[in-house]
Amino acid sequence: MTSQRLFQPSSGGAPDDGARATFKHNTFSSKYWLSYFENNRRDKQAFVWPQYLDIPYTVRVPIIKSLQRFQIGETGDGTHLRKYAKTLNDPTFEQCIDLFIKEENGHALVLARIIELMEGYLITWHWTDYAFVSLRHLMGLKTEIFIILTAEIVGRNFYKACADGLPDQALRAIFSSIVRDEIAHLKFHWSFMHKEMLPYSKLTRQAIYYFWSAVFLTICCVFIFDHREALQVLGKSPVGFLQECLRLYKRGAMRALLLS
Ligand SMILES: [Fe+2]
Ligand SMILES: [Fe+2]
Repeated sequence: MTSQRLFQPSSGGAPDDGARATFKHNTFSSKYWLSYFENNRRDKQAFVWPQYLDIPYTVRVPIIKSLQRFQIGETGDGTHLRKYAKTLNDPTFEQCIDLFIKEENGHALVLARIIELMEGYLITWHWTDYAFVSLRHLMGLKTEIFIILTAEIVGRNFYKACADGLPDQALRAIFSSIVRDEIAHLKFHWSFMHKEMLPYSKLTRQAIYYFWSAVFLTICCVFIFDHREALQVLGKSPVGFLQECLRLYKRGAMRALLLS
């Protein structure tokens, strides 16, 4: 998986909605998603890696700092997620989770190579990753998926900012490819949540929405503060980035909670 995942499509430009996966929010199908993950894995093509990056030091330093944090976030082995997934007694879903984790680990390898190209180094621990993993393990599968979703939204928007704002065409294409994967991950998790929320009353789902929103907003604000220097060199204002994240969150959460 690891070496294969370094080779991905080299198409340029940041996709706004490039993932091929359809958001079937009315019905979650493990079989459909297994097919998506298998096809996505099979269809990966080689990236065109630049030999040299003509990126000023003032841009590199904050970008490396942010990518180091993302890199450890993408590295996890998904032990808890696999354990929770097992409780559903759906082997096909377990396979989906396995391929999802492998895809994220593939992103970690790609980010590691980008950091290396930028002459940065990898880190093995950061307090935000520790906090994020701890939050995920607080309760069961739904909490785990919800916290993963917050990371997917923030990650998707940060990678898109890299795809749009970095002054290197090859890197922009690489980040665009990651964005496409992240869009599909969002669809995968939201549609799963939709299925899980079906048994709840409207009042309960509304309460969940407000609780999730508060947690999401808090995590977003911490992220924006922690990554403010990178966002600045990528031309993203804190308020603008927050609005983009909230928009994406609201659309997915409202659908998943059957509130739209
Ligand atoms: Fe990822
Ligand atoms: Fe992801």
